[in-house]
Amino acid sequence: MSEVYDESLKYFQNHKNEYLEDLCKFVHIPSISADSSYKKDIEKTALWLSDYLKSIGIEKIEIFNTSLFPIVFGEYSKAGPEKPTMLIYGHYDVQPADPIDQWITDPFSPEIKNGQLFARGSSDMKGQLIVSLAAIDSILHTNLLPINIKFLLEGEEEIGSPNIVDFITNHKELLKSDFVLNLDAGMIAPDLPTITYGLRGLAYFELYVYGPEHDLHSGLFGGIVHNPALALCEILTGMKDKEDKILLPGFYDDVIPLSIDERQELARLPLDDDFYKSQTGVNLLVGEKGYSSTERVSARPTLDIHGIYSGYIGIGPKTVIPSYAMAKFSCRLVPRQEPARIYQQLIDYLNQNAPKTIRWEVKQLSSDTPCVIDRNFPPTTRFSTSLEKIWNVKPVYKREGGSIPIVSYMSDILGIQSILSGFALPDDRAHSPNERLNLDLWEKGVKTVINFILSFTEAAD
Ligand code: BES
Ligand code: MN
Repeated sequence: MSEVYDESLKYFQNHKNEYLEDLCKFVHIPSISADSSYKKDIEKTALWLSDYLKSIGIEKIEIFNTSLFPIVFGEYSKAGPEKPTMLIYGHYDVQPADPIDQWITDPFSPEIKNGQLFARGSSDMKGQLIVSLAAIDSILHTNLLPINIKFLLEGEEEIGSPNIVDFITNHKELLKSDFVLNLDAGMIAPDLPTITYGLRGLAYFELYVYGPEHDLHSGLFGGIVHNPALALCEILTGMKDKEDKILLPGFYDDVIPLSIDERQELARLPLDDDFYKSQTGVNLLVGEKGYSSTERVSARPTLDIHGIYSGYIGIGPKTVIPSYAMAKFSCRLVPRQEPARIYQQLIDYLNQNAPKTIRWEVKQLSSDTPCVIDRNFPPTTRFSTSLEKIWNVKPVYKREGGSIPIVSYMSDILGIQSILSGFALPDDRAHSPNERLNLDLWEKGVKTVINFILSFTEAAD
């Protein structure tokens, strides 16, 4: 590419262990957003990040407090007003580490084994965030950047970004940029760099089912009282039929059907049932009738239970009819389903189907709008070229089943489109015990971002 490129790559090669140490410090702080008892740790992480931005030469840094967790903003504008501005999005919060006893190492004491870094958040997405920061630092060490850069780093993504709409609505000028680089999506396989062009949305609920006014002796009262644990199971199983169709009234009304072209294209991805079986360790897959597994995990809506609680789950027997039962569950959504309408459909379903023997209550937790984005967005094509240069293969384009709330808001509220990519693998165990980051891909990721940023120099030549 150029001398600057060679110098930056060399700088990165010579300092990659230091960047890795930085990443280890970053994942060491347990910035769990789901549980507000970690508020202090989240704030510590935000401070750590703002110090880091300062240390790599970002001039303007500001921490914005929200009603929950801070947003870290940074800006580099030395390229000059006539040059494009890239907004780097990232989230520094992580999912809870539970179930802790299933971790082989401590979730917040990073360990490197066989080229992988084990820690909560290593892959999703602290490692991905350090990719951009290491790339920028490696260039800045000897040169100026050919583009302007802004950073928007939030601490609430893993709980559905409840404050992001307000923040971007109130900071339109501050966030003004030509495109977003969002590396919170991943890649299909180590040898297949991936551009993501669609994300699912999410409607997340907590359902409480109340029975007797207090726990009861099941010998004295068993046989006359509807057990809330059983009622909850009945309600939950009633939400799907035998062909895995979701039965909330009107659930599919807003779903845009997949076009024949898109179905053909998704079918060409190297993702067959054996792949999904090997990733999950199950020997039989399930799913909505009439769709392939690739379609089911990315382009069709779903309903999943995340946790169920009722009664006694301690050691030994206890004969009790619990007074209540609770489930956490969510629907992944596809365009144009809307979380608010799904909530209403759930209420309708419960009104029609919940047994009269119990009382129920629903809380809506995270919600997020699905999106499909333009694959021919010029910055995306440019990023794809950089991926190809580093991997020596053409990237594949896919829709992802996961959700990143900010993507549709940036486009709907600010009119700014995102490049969605990343260097995380499907088997990095994101959100699960023993999360890990493939360090070879992490390195290639840094080189890709260096290549991408410096490609703007060439454009100007
Ligand atoms: N990085 C993930 C989302 C993702 C994973 C996108 C794989 C593409 C490929 C993100 O951090 C995440 O987990 N988001 C949550 C958001 C939710 C709470 C609104 C999710 O998808 O569960
Ligand atoms: Mn995540």
